[in-house]
Amino acid sequence: MADAYKVIDHAYDAVVVGAGGSGLRATMGLAEQGLKTACITKVFPTRSHTVAAQGGIAAALGNMGPDHWTWHMYDTVKGSDWLGDQDAIEYLCREAPAAVYELEHYGVPFSRTPDGRIYQRAFGGMTQNMGEGPPAQRTCAAADRTGHAMLHALYQQSLKHDADFFIEYFAIDLIMVNGECRGVVALCMEDGSIHRFRAHAVVLATGGYGRAYFSATSAHTSTGDGGGMVLRAGLPLQDMEFVQFHPTGIYGAGVLITEGARGEGGYLTNSAGERFMERYAPSAKDLASRDVVSRSMAQEIREGRGVGKEGDHIYLHLDHIDPKILAERLPGISETARIFAGVDVTRQPIPVVPTVHYNMGGIPTNYWGEVVTLKDGDPDTVVPGLYAVGEAACVSVHGANRLGSNSLIDLVVFGRAAAKRIGATVAPMTPLPPLPKDAADFAIARLDALRHAKGGSPTAQVRLAMQKTMQANCGVFRTTEVLDEGCRKIDAVYQQMADIGISDRSLVFNTDLIEALELDNMIGQAVVTMHSAANRKESRGAHMHEDHPHRDDENWMKHTVAWFRDGRVTLDYRPVHTRTLTDEVAYIKPKARVY
Ligand code: FUM
Repeated sequence: MADAYKVIDHAYDAVVVGAGGSGLRATMGLAEQGLKTACITKVFPTRSHTVAAQGGIAAALGNMGPDHWTWHMYDTVKGSDWLGDQDAIEYLCREAPAAVYELEHYGVPFSRTPDGRIYQRAFGGMTQNMGEGPPAQRTCAAADRTGHAMLHALYQQSLKHDADFFIEYFAIDLIMVNGECRGVVALCMEDGSIHRFRAHAVVLATGGYGRAYFSATSAHTSTGDGGGMVLRAGLPLQDMEFVQFHPTGIYGAGVLITEGARGEGGYLTNSAGERFMERYAPSAKDLASRDVVSRSMAQEIREGRGVGKEGDHIYLHLDHIDPKILAERLPGISETARIFAGVDVTRQPIPVVPTVHYNMGGIPTNYWGEVVTLKDGDPDTVVPGLYAVGEAACVSVHGANRLGSNSLIDLVVFGRAAAKRIGATVAPMTPLPPLPKDAADFAIARLDALRHAKGGSPTAQVRLAMQKTMQANCGVFRTTEVLDEGCRKIDAVYQQMADIGISDRSLVFNTDLIEALELDNMIGQAVVTMHSAANRKESRGAHMHEDHPHRDDENWMKHTVAWFRDGRVTLDYRPVHTRTLTDEVAYIKPKARVY
């Protein structure tokens, strides 16, 4: 099969797939250790979806008041609804301040306090004193363009350390030999050539699959390509039922309005003008965690107190905030609200609605970024040569619900951890073992099949059916009936993949083909998400099951592990890590989660 295509071989110490925040942090960390490093990306690095991260990056710097990394750890465990692995969460929160200072030194233009320190704002679920104190201002911000600033700094650093970039290359599949990852096959979109990258380590930094839903804050490129590759490699994904809805997507457009808007004093109202969050979260109010705020908004709408002609959204007010503060700290969202909602934020509320924003689930890893699988009873079996970081991964630090601004810190802490781990295990320029002759065949056969697919269902039609099913059957509120129907429907959408047809057979800048490959990556993840959700008979974090409205630690404090082979989902469960990394902190015991 490979003979029919032009295949170009490359040899690297390490290959990173994806050039968002985690991919770039891994790339520069590998290159700075002298490892020959390639970064493959389907979009130009500074256009990766991290560019859309607005409000900031969490780290207990204590610039705006008392703070400590153990308080950050407590909030993250509580935010995760006790599904996060506490060893990984300890690692994240302990390493966070150093990771932020590192970004500062790389050139991220953080906003400043009057005395010149990094400015930090309040974000949901972030508190002082192990949840007992007032809100903590822990989120380090570069106005409301933090992700954008990070991407520029990390791309420049990667270039400085001579990493090679393969831009507008679409990774098709992993090269797996006897259970070991030995590289990746990619398509150069510009000229249609096929590239076989051999490496000692492959890092998947491919982001989330938000676009499996109809309305998402995610970019159109957020198609979870790494998750698709992992499923096809016969490896599982973890905790896929936990999909985060951000409370403030612009109604109708889905575009993000940062939680930082509420951190700067913004608040939500219903059709009666009531600040309803006071009823649902009397202490944290509008700064409760995202699952709580999104559910409260959905509840208000369900009970007839939504705003607008159809009563199907909520207002976010910033109009009481000094326009000078809005211009200085929230310039991006002021512009976004004007463009996408026609609203002047100094005078009018923004129409918002909970919108899909983040996947807590993903490719299971340990806190070094090594991909793990559940094998022969060992839940932490490492897959040699394969790493995952960022939203593509499930470390798991976010458990059942991620706190806002914990994703940017996750990107850099674990991007750096993976680079360090690879640096500790691979010496620069160590010879690569030869590959079997047919090592790229699996990837090329898949590409070829989609390229020549002549069925009657256009990609856009199948994708829309998937997106509508996910939105309707795997949303903020779930029931057995809705989820069971969702399983039947999403399985049927998967069957439609056999009838897909694309019109353009070319390999050169063929967006029809790329969209079919992306859909093929998303559909498996959509199927395991729905089945994982249907099987979890409790409510925890973002998974609100109305027939099982309480958290059930005795039976369900465990990670879902899901395989998708030959069109069938297999589910298993692995224990949540209740161990911490060091003796410096004790395991944080589960308790009722109120804000
Ligand atoms: O609301 C926001 O600025 C998003 C941040 C995040 O998802 O961490």
